[in-house]
Amino acid sequence: MERSITENDQSSMTLQELIEKLHVIFADDQVNADEVHSVMESYSSQRNEWRKFASFDPYRYTRNLVDEGNGKFNLIVLCWGEGQGSGIHDHSDAHCFMKVLDGELQETLYGWPQDGIENEKMDPLRKNIYRRNQVAYINDSLGLHRVENPSHTNQAVSLHLYSPPFKACHSFDERTGKKRSCQVTFWSQYGVRTPYGNSCGSYVSCGEQN
Ligand SMILES: [Fe+2]
Repeated sequence: MERSITENDQSSMTLQELIEKLHVIFADDQVNADEVHSVMESYSSQRNEWRKFASFDPYRYTRNLVDEGNGKFNLIVLCWGEGQGSGIHDHSDAHCFMKVLDGELQETLYGWPQDGIENEKMDPLRKNIYRRNQVAYINDSLGLHRVENPSHTNQAVSLHLYSPPFKACHSFDERTGKKRSCQVTFWSQYGVRTPYGNSCGSYVSCGEQN
């Protein structure tokens, strides 16, 4: 029997259909963050749909490009091995949506270091746990964050949307508040491992010192 798919049948949306919906939303110049959040939340994670993008590195988390969103956004699968995490970072004036596809992620939020004050320890403001299918949102006006897989027995996978796409951001030293610029690179693109030489897929563990 043929199954009918309706707008309300959210559980039937595939990853490909999610990507197509996102293209429609971002065709407009004005981005409605609530709408993006809602459509990402309505996608129900199916491992067989994102498995080809989920490529792990034993030493650090990886960033794997899924779609370039006609230049309006980047859609990226991040793979977090047991206990792996990012540094504290900003988002280059972009919207950042993070949907958990597998496992759990812990987000630690920080305020911006105060201008003109050197060597000030950064204190966490709040910690949030996100579980499978939940969506987090941040932009620079909300502060900075660190993301990590708190489990030492399970891997985690997340789907991130950044709009507009960016090639560099800043990471921050929690002990001093000092920042440095980091280039954004991909561990794989469209399911194919990025050639050696451009292989560091973690945006806070490689980059150029300011
Ligand atoms: Fe982030």
